[in-house]
Amino acid sequence: MKERLEKIKEEVLRQIESSENLEKLNEVRVFALGKKGALTGLLKGMKDVAPEERPKVGQMVNEVRAELEGRLEERKAELEEFLREMRLKSEVIDVTLPAKKNQVGHRHPNTIVQQEVERIFVGMGYEVVEGPEVELDYYNFEALNTPKGHPARDEQDTFYISEDIVLRTQTSPVQVRTMEKGKLPIRMIAPGRVYRSDEVDATHSPVFHQIEGLVIDKNITFSDLKGTLAEFARELFGPDTKVKFRPHHFPFTEPSAEVDVSCFKCGGKGCRFCKGSGWIEILGCGMVHPKVLTMSGIDPNEYSGFAFGVGLERITLLKYEIDDMRLLYENDARFLKQF
Ligand code: DAH
Repeated sequence: MKERLEKIKEEVLRQIESSENLEKLNEVRVFALGKKGALTGLLKGMKDVAPEERPKVGQMVNEVRAELEGRLEERKAELEEFLREMRLKSEVIDVTLPAKKNQVGHRHPNTIVQQEVERIFVGMGYEVVEGPEVELDYYNFEALNTPKGHPARDEQDTFYISEDIVLRTQTSPVQVRTMEKGKLPIRMIAPGRVYRSDEVDATHSPVFHQIEGLVIDKNITFSDLKGTLAEFARELFGPDTKVKFRPHHFPFTEPSAEVDVSCFKCGGKGCRFCKGSGWIEILGCGMVHPKVLTMSGIDPNEYSGFAFGVGLERITLLKYEIDDMRLLYENDARFLKQF
């Protein structure tokens, strides 16, 4: 009996030592001291022990039980301490480490320029208006004095959705939609996406942006157009900027012009930017054609107006000296965060 007791004791002590976690240790406790455990099993053998020996054996068993219980408690405390240390180690925070930088969102260079243009015109009392990108042929061409078969339709290679629905090739249809509403006078700009079936290269994209402008009131003249665009150019490119109006043709304006600004890099002396000419073309404009006014229900004998269209990307590329338009659409964060 004594031998078996010793054996059990050794075995349990060994198991206690090799327990590496609290679950294991608990299993050992159940194995040694539980109701169906080794010591209880041993006590069941008491009936074979001589009666006078029984108190001695009982005492021995109790001593072993007490020793094992003590050792179990110790091991439990050790394990708990060990686990606590592990946890503390894994939770260590080095407050001297530099903080991780938050990646903050960023305005796209096109957006920066668009908002700048909007700021300038809103400052002059203009309203910012939007129109649909999927547009009726009527608004994109017909009502802008560009009927079917008109050569200007070819210049603006069009994505057709159906025979009379297109992806707008210009923001000019927003003029018509605004005039049709019949609320006069009008002072508005319409920024937005436009589409043309162009191949992608450094200066072309099938999707790009324009900002349309329109003013309609009594007694609006070409002088108003010149003054307005000169002021716009000075605000956008700097106070010394000069403007030059070159005769041009658009179906929806008469007379029409293209506007050049004095090169804001070289001041007009001639450089890489202006290709040596000292001037940079930035927009198209003109006096709204009487036919366009009439089609939109405005009497050209009573009202007149001017309109203009700016290519947003063109301004962005110039302003930030970017030489490839594709960079604007690839959304490479390394490029975008420079602005
Ligand atoms: N819609 C023209 C284009 O896409 C730009 C333009 C020129 C708009 C003259 C106008 C304008 O309103 O008067 O090329």
